[in-house]
Amino acid sequence: MKGTILMKRITTVLFLVLAVAVHATAADSRQTFRTSFNDGWKFHKGDVAGAETPEFDDSQWRSLDLPHDWAIEGPFDVKYNARCGGLPFHGTGWYRKSFEVPAEASGKAISVTFDGAMYDAHVWVNGHFVGHRPYGYIEFQYDISNLLNYNGSNAIAVKLAPEDLSTRWYPGAGIYRNVWLDIRDPVHVAQWGTFVTTPKVKDRTATVSIETTLEGDLTEKSIQLKYEVFDPMGKSVSSSTIPGQIKTATKLSVSNPLLWTLESPQLYVLKTTVLGAGRTLDVVQTRFGIRTLEFSKTEGFSLNGNPTRIQGVCLHHDNGPLGAAIHRRAIERKLQIMKQMGVNSVRTSHNPPSNELLDLCDELGILVQVEAFDVWLKAKVPNGYNKFFEEWGERDIKDMVRRDRNHPSVFMWSIGNEILEQGNKEDGNRIAKQLNGYVKSLDTTRPTTCGFNYFPGPYQSGMAGQIDIAGMNYKPLAYGDPVDEFLPNNPVVASETSSCTSSRGVYHLPIEKYQTHPSKQVTSYDLIGPPWAYPPDVEFDALETHPEILGEYVWTGFDYLGEPTPYGGKDNSTNGYWNADWPSRSSYFGAVDLCGFPKDRFYLYQSQWTQEPMVHVLPHWNWQNSSHKTIPIVAYTNCEEVELLVNGKSMGRKVKGKDLTKIPVKFNRYDKDHFMSKYRLSWEVPYSPGSLRVVGYRNGKPVAEKEIRTAGEPAQVKLVADRRELIADQSDLSYVTVRIEDREGNLCPLASNLVRFSVDGAGTIAAVGNGNAATTAPFIADEREAFNGLCMLIVKAGKQTGGITIRAESEGLRSDSASLDVKRP
Ligand code: GAL
Repeated sequence: MKGTILMKRITTVLFLVLAVAVHATAADSRQTFRTSFNDGWKFHKGDVAGAETPEFDDSQWRSLDLPHDWAIEGPFDVKYNARCGGLPFHGTGWYRKSFEVPAEASGKAISVTFDGAMYDAHVWVNGHFVGHRPYGYIEFQYDISNLLNYNGSNAIAVKLAPEDLSTRWYPGAGIYRNVWLDIRDPVHVAQWGTFVTTPKVKDRTATVSIETTLEGDLTEKSIQLKYEVFDPMGKSVSSSTIPGQIKTATKLSVSNPLLWTLESPQLYVLKTTVLGAGRTLDVVQTRFGIRTLEFSKTEGFSLNGNPTRIQGVCLHHDNGPLGAAIHRRAIERKLQIMKQMGVNSVRTSHNPPSNELLDLCDELGILVQVEAFDVWLKAKVPNGYNKFFEEWGERDIKDMVRRDRNHPSVFMWSIGNEILEQGNKEDGNRIAKQLNGYVKSLDTTRPTTCGFNYFPGPYQSGMAGQIDIAGMNYKPLAYGDPVDEFLPNNPVVASETSSCTSSRGVYHLPIEKYQTHPSKQVTSYDLIGPPWAYPPDVEFDALETHPEILGEYVWTGFDYLGEPTPYGGKDNSTNGYWNADWPSRSSYFGAVDLCGFPKDRFYLYQSQWTQEPMVHVLPHWNWQNSSHKTIPIVAYTNCEEVELLVNGKSMGRKVKGKDLTKIPVKFNRYDKDHFMSKYRLSWEVPYSPGSLRVVGYRNGKPVAEKEIRTAGEPAQVKLVADRRELIADQSDLSYVTVRIEDREGNLCPLASNLVRFSVDGAGTIAAVGNGNAATTAPFIADEREAFNGLCMLIVKAGKQTGGITIRAESEGLRSDSASLDVKRP
């Protein structure tokens, strides 16, 4: 018998830092006790004796502002591990900063918070060791009040030591997330001391349940907690003032709540004011959302009572050419591109995400599966987090939940990915049970999950039953009876799917299944992948047959640095270096390349996940120098029919669902050598230069079309900025697409011209890139070769307002320029 509803109606909350408050819509007055601690650091790569002491002379060190990723500057080198991006991330790095605190801050509680530091952070203040935090993805805070000089200068020193062979992807290196200084009254809301849930949303009223944890000596003061809820328009809609204890729980109600939905993610703000003897001691603004979650074995997932299939992607944390350093805009753009593809959920593979990612998912209406670990005790790589798990695992997963449990976007907690304890009944069960318990001790409003890639091992052993929702990685043929035999009651999510690989704009003929290609690129006919992989179509089909599966998380939405499968390593058991196919150094898995340019697969997902009429056609239409005279044409569409026209002449209409496309694939547990896909339409046509056009029809009417024209010789560079107005906040970005075009403005799909950039005025070059996974050209540069007609210039605003002028030149081509405007924050 299949079970029914697993999780009860649930809702959410938020989180309490200024970073969030800044972007929050609400609250009439904003009192804050938090300031950025990012500016004015000194950095040195390498170990130095005595660098923790206040008197250490760091005048020769490099001056910089955080966030900072020391490895992204390169150079790429075959002596580093391509599996981790081929970049110099390992070794010791030191950061130091001198700072003063106002004399009147004496007697206050002063703390420093690192949103994350990669890796194995050791922190000293004025020569005193204050703490050690190994996991690079976790937020940590130290109270430094007793170590400070209130009438002079202070020194903070941070030593980081990311190790070689410590991850299966590019981790980045350095203080790559934001740092904050809090100066508060000794009586204040603790770190992550606000927990807001909306356990009941009924009869047009939401109950807002609040728990507050205070720190400090409450005995002398008569502490009051004033709570005020602001609606998405900033209007106060509910309030109360009650006596405050170290732990205080209360409830407010909100009538006619505006729900947090994917289409309209409404956000409320809870303002908590700590009052002592009539004085304001602390103010914390916590953004939250009102929504319900239901997970059912038979009915799937519902948000606010509406059945919602998970159309998800796995995302690693790096931002391509910008590396791991936090740039809010880079994450926002990534998520916006994913939304265009039809994505409604992100799995933060395989580690706790940045605050910024969660804030943005709250704002954009994207559900998040927050994942804690890629390993527990058993190593996947020689120097992995397993070294720290025994000592830090509990603390890390609890801190992750405490930090993130107020985000309405967060809807599932993953305790791990492809954990090797799957193969060990005793450890697998024991640790899964423990971690599940740690999560539940802090949040019972969301289910737990874990990504399993063994079948039936962890199901048979009982490990999968320790958590609420089983995550199946790459097992489309085990949905239904095979998995239900072991898990009759628990819902299942396809936590990792497809792992199809491709290079943007690359098409190899004839279409055939291969392991690798001499070009070190992968064809974009969307069929190549490692042995456990399969084309997106296979998963679509399995999910259609099994509507009870909650949905899928594609590996991956974006390309990421490292793991250049299929080049350099054949499978995940290759623990050493993956440099056999250098310079391949970043992934081919993305539906979108490292710069954010969509590959063809982006449109295959869009055709399955979106309703607005669309049609896409591949390959390019420049085959004049090819020995292949007949070209396979493929269309991806969400329309009913597609007509292909070559130079205006119809090559016939094909009907989606009826006209199938044969894809030559073979994958695990699949006994055929091809798959008949109803998700792509295809034709074979003789090549004749000119126009390739597809028209999508619904109800017999044309509703979408796309045309590709044969391009002539490269004649001009064209700049297309995604944003022309930036904010002078030292981190805002404009992504400028650089196109190599022929005289008529057609994209030259094979062009690789070198483009040189100059950026003058109120901005600088943050990075360049082109989406080619197999090149050692640096990201921090003022020139870039086009890759299949495109490259990217990323321009960053500084502190100054004013204009930015960009110029792009390429030998023999007409140059282009663009201007941007940088405004006051
Ligand atoms: C999975 C793994 C991912 C990535 C992927 C590549 O097994 O969980 O992290 O390595 O394979 O296909």
